Amino acid sequence: MIGILLGAFLVLLISEFFADLRVMNQPSQNPIYLDEKQSIEDRVADLLSRMTLEEKIGQMALVEKNSIEEVADISKYYLGALLSGSGAKPDINTVAGWQEMIASYQGEARKTRLGIPLLYGADAIHGHSHLPTATVFPHALGLGATNNSELVKAIAVATAEELFITGVNWSFSPNLDLPQDIRWGRVYEAFSDDPTLAAKLGVAHIEGLQNNVKSDDKEIFILATPKHYLGLGNMGWDTSLSDTYKIDQGVTPADEALLRSRYLPPFKAAVDAGALSMMVGLNVWGDEKMVFQKELLTDLLKDELGFKGFLVSDWYGVHHGSRIKIWDTVKAVNAGVDMFMLPFDYEQFVRHMKWANRLGFISDERIDDAVGRILYAKFALGLFDQHRESWAQTEIPNSEHQALARQAVSESIVLLKNKDDILPLSPNISRIKVAGSAAHNVGKQTGAWTIDWQGFQGNSLPGATSILEGIRASVSDETVIEYEPLGNFPIEKRKTPVGIAVVGENPYAEGFGDTEFPIIYQEDLVAIQNLQLTCDKVIVVIVSGRPLLIEREIKSWDALLAAWLLGAEGAGVADVLFGYKPFTGTLPLPWPRSAEQLPISPEGESADGTPVLFPRGFGLVD
Ligand code: BGC
Repeated sequence: MIGILLGAFLVLLISEFFADLRVMNQPSQNPIYLDEKQSIEDRVADLLSRMTLEEKIGQMALVEKNSIEEVADISKYYLGALLSGSGAKPDINTVAGWQEMIASYQGEARKTRLGIPLLYGADAIHGHSHLPTATVFPHALGLGATNNSELVKAIAVATAEELFITGVNWSFSPNLDLPQDIRWGRVYEAFSDDPTLAAKLGVAHIEGLQNNVKSDDKEIFILATPKHYLGLGNMGWDTSLSDTYKIDQGVTPADEALLRSRYLPPFKAAVDAGALSMMVGLNVWGDEKMVFQKELLTDLLKDELGFKGFLVSDWYGVHHGSRIKIWDTVKAVNAGVDMFMLPFDYEQFVRHMKWANRLGFISDERIDDAVGRILYAKFALGLFDQHRESWAQTEIPNSEHQALARQAVSESIVLLKNKDDILPLSPNISRIKVAGSAAHNVGKQTGAWTIDWQGFQGNSLPGATSILEGIRASVSDETVIEYEPLGNFPIEKRKTPVGIAVVGENPYAEGFGDTEFPIIYQEDLVAIQNLQLTCDKVIVVIVSGRPLLIEREIKSWDALLAAWLLGAEGAGVADVLFGYKPFTGTLPLPWPRSAEQLPISPEGESADGTPVLFPRGFGLVD
């Protein structure tokens, strides 16, 4: 044993010596990789030929910005990419704060011998939504209800501009998961459970982010990252690897036919649309984590589909639950993971990668392939080139983007019931009573991944409009609007013509939203009942990240609108309520009747064979 260890140590020492010699032999004059006129392939090959093992390994590390102990670690470990995980904002969360923060990291990366710029990633899944002044669009499920790829593309263009201004060059979007079970806490992050719709809107998002209208058409503007490859949305209840979650990070049944017919098409469409990075899911496929599935990552995606970008693992995805970290690193790299969202232990990762390579567990060729893919994306983004830095700066907040977000809200709303054609209402109506926990709560309507990972409650977002404020602004000066969250209005002789109950879920992200019974909270049911006592007709607006189980309650409601997680422009709800805009939204996924019906297949078959409450595609449209 001691002999083996000594031997390994000697191998490490000798290879370290030759690695140093290689560095000293670098040519330095007018390198090809800095010449914008050269092809990306030639620039990648040239840069790779100049890099030491340490410089290459650093490119494979994606590090959470809050875990950087000292900014100098960026150059010390030659780090290739940083991210702002959902909670990691600059100390001062303004445009200038982001600009300064990212510029300081980029400055440190540029100090290295080869000056390779960083990828800087964020989850812009419904706008650059961790920055308070950015435009917060509806979450993807609402966009699925619009079925409007031009709109989705325009939103991605707007998001790309806002990311660009702050220095973020990489977005972990679009989400191409196919949720089949509304008990999952990530349903709203996806466009639809239908692979065709998810593919269509996913491609629109990629095109919008990457080929932003202002960009040179050959160059990518913001790097998109379709996620999560592969099979997310069909994990079984109570299969999660996490101790506290139920479905998220769970097990997807390994079924080759299902994989190809259902899950693969959106990702294939993303590859064809030019995606140059893709995120590997935290799920288990069969009995092995997705990050270790060589057949799916390398053989299928890279070799068969021709994906020429890089694969990034999800948050702590390789090492979560790992007993021998170095071994899991070896397995993941050899399976096809090119960049590790560590997100913390970069020093250890670099050490493990070096050992694994020197001891022959990870080949030079595999490292070159991984780093070549990452560099390809960096060149495609124009990160090495001066002109990227000279794009005109625009302002945030941006009123055009806000108008786009408002349009998206009204197009995303699905009218599910409209007894006696009560809707649209007249803006000249004499009186309306408004109740419900989501009526005047921007945090609820924006949902999670807004300012913080788990979102927020209340009306602290600057420039945002709650649904109540939108209603107030849409009616005549004579109309009386009364508001009481629980609907506790005094009983009067004459009932008010209309009550609007805006009810909904509290924000949640990922497994925090896994719940056995997605239902309307008791306080909101009380608010609806209270309105029914004092109003002739009651309209219910549900603000939620998924369909809720309402079979019993809906019977007594006069009208029902699914408003999803609509973002910061609450006025878009009033636009359809009062007929300024038509109802055009349709359900992006089936609306189940009961928990026994879950999961529901994309073909619309419920688990117990009974018909759903509303099928996908349903919506009373004008
Ligand atoms: C999520 C990813 C996200 C990543 C970075 C993970 O927890 O699963 O979707 O992109 O965090 O914030």
